[in-house]
Amino acid sequence: MAIPDSFIEEVVSRNELEPLVSTYVRLKTRGRTRVGLCPFHGEKTPSFTVYTENNSFYCFGCGAGGDVITFVRRMENLDYVDAVKFLADRAGLRMPEQGVNDAVSKLRVRVLEANREAARFYHAMLTDPKGTVGLQYYRGRGYTDSTIRHFGLGYAPDSGWALRDALRAKGFTDEELIAAWLCKRSERGHLYDVFRGRIMVPIIDIRGNVIAFGGRVLDDSKPKYINTSDTLAYKKSDNLFALNFAKSSLGKMPDGGTQLILCEGYMDVIALHQAGFTNAVAALGTSFTAEHARLIARYAAEVVLTFDADAAGQKGTGRAIDLLRETGVRIKVVRVPDGKDPDEFIKNNGAERFRMLMENSANDVEYRLLELGRQFDLATADGQARYLKGAAELLAGLSSPIERDVYAGKIAAEVGVTKSALLDQIRQVGRRRARKQEGQQLSQAVRQSAAAVKKVNPEAETHWRAARAEEALIGLLIRNPDYIGRVADALPPDGMVTAFNRTLYGLLVTRHQNGLLVEPSLLSAELEVDGMAYLARMVQEAGERANTPEEALRCAAVITEEKRRLAVQESTTSDEDIEAYLAKLRQEKK
Ligand code: GTP
Ligand code: MN
Repeated sequence: MAIPDSFIEEVVSRNELEPLVSTYVRLKTRGRTRVGLCPFHGEKTPSFTVYTENNSFYCFGCGAGGDVITFVRRMENLDYVDAVKFLADRAGLRMPEQGVNDAVSKLRVRVLEANREAARFYHAMLTDPKGTVGLQYYRGRGYTDSTIRHFGLGYAPDSGWALRDALRAKGFTDEELIAAWLCKRSERGHLYDVFRGRIMVPIIDIRGNVIAFGGRVLDDSKPKYINTSDTLAYKKSDNLFALNFAKSSLGKMPDGGTQLILCEGYMDVIALHQAGFTNAVAALGTSFTAEHARLIARYAAEVVLTFDADAAGQKGTGRAIDLLRETGVRIKVVRVPDGKDPDEFIKNNGAERFRMLMENSANDVEYRLLELGRQFDLATADGQARYLKGAAELLAGLSSPIERDVYAGKIAAEVGVTKSALLDQIRQVGRRRARKQEGQQLSQAVRQSAAAVKKVNPEAETHWRAARAEEALIGLLIRNPDYIGRVADALPPDGMVTAFNRTLYGLLVTRHQNGLLVEPSLLSAELEVDGMAYLARMVQEAGERANTPEEALRCAAVITEEKRRLAVQESTTSDEDIEAYLAKLRQEKK
């Protein structure tokens, strides 16, 4: 998992912390720093500080701190490698191929090749007597030949080994077919095809690789769909069906923006594309994830949701709205009438009617208010009260005061109450939530950073005098790497008392001796988020001391003294022990 230092340096230098933080937090200048409200705990007065001079941050409220990588890890909830990837992407850098050994990357390539061959095989089956049923199925659904060709649709014959034999004949090994999730091994050791008697939809990524398949039964038997599980070449939550087509025909909106249509099933997507809506995509399988939402936001400014009209579809819509809202993409919701999905609707009513549905679609707030209204009988006082309560909760969640005001006005008129009364109620909900959230976040954040130090360096509690000197010294050395040489002469690389600091100090000295930089970012991989927060505190607090070599040496002296004292203490508990200890020393001298 070692990403080369040079690459980390490049990534960090191309991602200045301050502009990145500014996309999440509103920062104000204060002296030589920039401060804002901490994104990791709720607060009213800013204690979150960005030090532009050394590209680090520290929160005096909750103790969160670190470098640009740590910030992204916490903000986006990513692991180390993904955070580096995120920043590399942002700077337009390509991650060096790493972490994957040769054998694995070769197998991955073979998986992609097997998938491509399989797609050819399934497609060819449509013109084979064994696949006539498949072709008939597509015809029955109204798919044209050109749609079938465009999507590379196919059919998996109802046989346990048709694909297996065809791909073996092309030189694929059993291991490769299993890795591609095209075949499995039975308990008795026979290799058999995963997809049998199903129409086959290849999933193609934006680079044009066939990465997976969806297979649907021809009748009502179960399971209706079988989809490829995650493989070396495919991660379900990273891909959207038909994005390869949609991305080059992103619907152009009147304002020049970009739009994607998100549906539930890939059959809907195919039907929409055939009807001219070539900006439709779908998540694969049933669950829509935060990654899907981010993927959509990367490509489009607006997303139109058209999920099924059934209960599951509406639940899915609510979930997708929540995830998409986080990304800031504009959301619209098309409600397909009569419990139909888009595919059926277009088949019955034509593309033009669907276009009208799209044009009259509600935005997400209107959609949710409608959903809410459906739950109550608005003809009764009780129903109205409940509706208003629900609406206040909903509108309190909107960040734009203008939006809140507009909808409050609408609802108030609808139900016949004054707008100011409703706005009052919304403010109350907002205050209650803010209080609750702030309390929760702060105590959680403080607990988290105290726990972080405890976790990474439990000895700091028992050896506090040593630990404080160590923290100060490490902080000073990171700020002034030119002191390291002199300090190392006075304090050997393993000279610190507490284990975490000892390792850290050892690392600094070795890196320095090997002519490497001692930037916190380069330690980010080894220290993890908790360690980085601890380190950030050290660097931060060292700023309040005299930044001189003498001060560093004074800390080193305290550490040496503590180390000696503890060594004596450890081996001496009583007078007799001291005798024994001295005797031992004398013995050793001989
Ligand atoms: P048709 O009935 O062919 O029109 O399909 P549909 O697109 O209307 O499918 P449906 O609404 O039932 O399901 C939508 C999506 O959920 C599908 O595209 C699948 O990705 C997923 N899904 C549905 N049923 C299953 C299942 O049995 N197994 C798995 N793994 N996924 C399913
Ligand atoms: Mn359908």
